[in-house]
Amino acid sequence: MSESAGDPKLIERGVELLRAGRLVAFPTETVYGLGADATNADAIQRLYTVKGRPADHPVIVHGGDLEVLDAWGREVSTAARRLAERCWPGPLTVVVHRAASVLDAVTGGLNTVGLRVPDQPAALALLRSFGGGVAAPSANRYGRVSPTTADDVRRDLGDDVDLILDGGPCTVGVESTIVDCSTDELLVLRPGGVSRERIESILGHTVRERQVGDQRAPGSLASHYAPRARVELVTRLELMTRAAELSTVAKVGVLAMAPVEGVPDGVVLLSRPPDVESFARGLYRSLRAADEFGVDVVLVVPPPPHGLGLAVRDRLCRAAGADSGLDA
Ligand code: TXA
Ligand code: MG
Repeated sequence: MSESAGDPKLIERGVELLRAGRLVAFPTETVYGLGADATNADAIQRLYTVKGRPADHPVIVHGGDLEVLDAWGREVSTAARRLAERCWPGPLTVVVHRAASVLDAVTGGLNTVGLRVPDQPAALALLRSFGGGVAAPSANRYGRVSPTTADDVRRDLGDDVDLILDGGPCTVGVESTIVDCSTDELLVLRPGGVSRERIESILGHTVRERQVGDQRAPGSLASHYAPRARVELVTRLELMTRAAELSTVAKVGVLAMAPVEGVPDGVVLLSRPPDVESFARGLYRSLRAADEFGVDVVLVVPPPPHGLGLAVRDRLCRAAGADSGLDA
């Protein structure tokens, strides 16, 4: 059921399934998405059921090119257009006023819609050949860690998905940056694959980040992107002392940027990525690996708070249940 996405016949099969109202998981540069025809209410219903997601939480509509903006949006602002032109295909979602035809089921009843063109060859082939919008949340069960390989999707969703296109591991590894462009004051709803620095340089001014308690973010739950293991954020200075202390009572895993030395006996070194890009790319795999190794507590030293580091820190905080956030 999971097939290498390079084969044009498989893309055609994916398109046929989407047209028939079925669910197709596909790779993107961020995480794997669980796709359904965004104009088919029954297909969207099934998407929500399989995902286990509350019906009032919106999904992102994916398209193959810039035309998705005007096909699904209305009164699209200059800022939204400029960001889309500069960042698509790429890990950016713009939230704009929705066109009248957009189903309530897609937007969770909001009068806005999130749109994105992913930068992944199989995704683009599927979307361009399908021609319409594909509603796609991350292809994990609600609240769990997002999938970054086809195997992750298969393990999570099994037979509930009709086809899994295998495009190999995702290259970015954390979800798209979501920018709400539906009002005059732009707001970053979720940090992601496009840095705030890049957004600000495209727009020529600073943008605000969503704060806890902001009402523009639907679906605020404390714990998301969470493995079964408890995630604890520590400083580099605290790391080894805490690992030694905890390892007498629990199975401990460690995730921190290199160098990481002196890991106590019995503690699992999950990963020591050399840079923040690798940290992001491997983040969800490491959290999943923690569960596969039967780790009880994952000690993580978050990367510095700029660029892609902001997105990694955001996901880590939510995995630790430390911040409320958007949907998983
Ligand atoms: O990188 C990504 O964005 C991945 C890949 C598959 O494209 N998708 C993804 O989808 O992360 P999902 O459903 O797991 O997260 C989408 C987030 C949710 O938090 C949702 O609340 C928000 O986007 N969202 C969607 N439409 C929105 C809207 N109209 N207004 C505000 N937030 C919206
Ligand atoms: Mg998600």
